[in-house]
Amino acid sequence: MSEPILQAHDLHKAFEQGTERLPVLRGATCVIEAGERVAIVGRSGSGKSTLLHILAGLDDPDAGEVRIAGEALTAAAVGERAALRNRYMGFVYQLHHLLPEFSAAENVAMSLRLGGMAPKEAMDNAVEMLVLVGLAQRTTHRPAALSGGERQRVAVARALVGNPRVILADEPTGNLDKDNARQVFELMCRLSDETGVAFVMVTHDEGMVDGMHRVLRLDGGILSSLP
Ligand SMILES: Nc1ncnc2c1ncn2[C@@H]1O[C@H](COP(=O)(O)OP(=O)(O)OP(=O)(O)O)[C@@H](O)[C@H]1O
Ligand SMILES: [Mg+2]
Repeated sequence: MSEPILQAHDLHKAFEQGTERLPVLRGATCVIEAGERVAIVGRSGSGKSTLLHILAGLDDPDAGEVRIAGEALTAAAVGERAALRNRYMGFVYQLHHLLPEFSAAENVAMSLRLGGMAPKEAMDNAVEMLVLVGLAQRTTHRPAALSGGERQRVAVARALVGNPRVILADEPTGNLDKDNARQVFELMCRLSDETGVAFVMVTHDEGMVDGMHRVLRLDGGILSSLP
């Protein structure tokens, strides 16, 4: 079997709040295989976003380590971390974070351009990805001229355009109504089947869990498998 795409080992994290020290992660461990779709559930404040930030290398754990495609992320220097993130990871957030003054295609092309790709090639890739998420007719629309579900599909296209191996998503459908949430979720599952990209998705929605291969619960600072 190929190497796991993402491994977190014995993560600990506490936040200082005034004189209090609030432990959030107390030995969280998980192994995500290539192409796997894993949901992370847990009550509000249990540390799901904190965990995702650490998995992304955007925050440091107090102890423990994260490896991406076998490479040490936690121990890497800041620049190397950014390079690992660019090479292997995509992100979808609860809010789309699209830039309002740019078209859908320009928003998707942005990360490719920042990565040094020529403008035309970046736009061609972006449009191709928008076609894949069902937005062939919306490539020149600005975010304000898109529906909530369409905006989130642009965000999915943006996460996927650099061919990442894993997408980290923090309640990616949390701001959508039930039908749109379902559609965006099914789209992510289909794209993961088609491209082999793994998904680690935080969700409050029990209904989202059935398309995932595995569900982990974060409780008391540790991850455990749900049947
Ligand atoms: N920068 C910070 N400084 C202090 N405390 C923090 C910080 N970030 C998070 N926390 C605390 O850590 C705990 C976990 O927060 P986190 O955002 O990870 O929870 P969550 O599981 O994502 O919750 P939700 O489901 O509401 O999004 C919370 O009690 C929060 O107040
Ligand atoms: Mg959160």
